[in-house]
Amino acid sequence: MRRKVIAGNWKMNMLPNEAMEMITTLEPLVKETKNEVILCVPFTDLFYCLNIAQGTNIKIGAQNMHFEEKGAYTGEISGKMLKSIGVEYVIIGHSERRQYFNETDETVNKKIKSAFANELKPIVCVGETLEQREAGNAFEVITSQTQKALDGLSDEQVINTIIAYEPIWAIGTGKTATSDDANEAIKKIREKICEIYGQNVSERVIIQYGGSMKPSNAKELLEMSDIDGGLIGGASLKAEDFSAIVNYDK
Ligand code: 13P
Repeated sequence: MRRKVIAGNWKMNMLPNEAMEMITTLEPLVKETKNEVILCVPFTDLFYCLNIAQGTNIKIGAQNMHFEEKGAYTGEISGKMLKSIGVEYVIIGHSERRQYFNETDETVNKKIKSAFANELKPIVCVGETLEQREAGNAFEVITSQTQKALDGLSDEQVINTIIAYEPIWAIGTGKTATSDDANEAIKKIREKICEIYGQNVSERVIIQYGGSMKPSNAKELLEMSDIDGGLIGGASLKAEDFSAIVNYDK
C-alpha cells in the first residue's frame, strides 16, 4: 500500500510571521495523521518554517532550485544551499515555472538529478493545458513530460520521486478534474513508468493530484485507487482548510 502524501504549495504567499503562525495553528490539527504532511514555502520563509516545524510531523520543502551547485547565477538558489539548512523536499517543474520562467523538460530533468545529488526529494509537476486536453492530447503530453523528467534516473531514484499531476486548467480556477479523470490520467502516468522501469517501480511511485483541491472535494479524489496524495495551492494557506484535507480519512 502506498502512503498518502499531502503537500501544500504556498507559491508567492506568506511573510515569515504569517508562515510561523500558520504552522503553529496547523501542528496540533495534523499531529495524529498517518499521512505525510509537507509544506513547500517561499525561500524567505524556509529558515523560519524549518525551525518552527522541528520535532513535528510537518516537513518543509522549497518550490524551485537551480541545477548547478554554485556559481555566477544571480538570484538563483542551489540544491546544495537548500540541503544545507535542512530542507527535505523541492517542487520541480511546476506549470507556473514552465509557463512564466522558461522551465523546460530538459531543465526539469537536470534539476531532479541535482536534487538527488543533494539528497533532496523532488516533487515533479506534469500537466496538460486546456487546449491539449480538448485536442485529445492530454495523456501524450503528461506521459512524455514524465518520461523526459525521469530520463537517466535509477530505479531507486524513480521510486523516491513524487510526481504531481496538475492539469493546468484546474490550477487556481476552481475547476477540478473529476475524480475519474484525475485517476485515469494518473494511471496513464503509472503505466508509462511501468513500461520503462517495470512494475516494482511503478507500483511504488507516489503520484499526487493537484488543481483546486479543497476540503469539499479532497476525500473523493484521495480515495481513488491511483491518487496517492495532493499538491494543494490556495487551500494550503489556511491551517483549517489544509488540515481538513490532511485529515480527509478521519
Ligand atoms: P490550487 O490548489 O490553488 O488550484 O493550486 C494548485 C497548484 O498549483 C499546486 O501546486
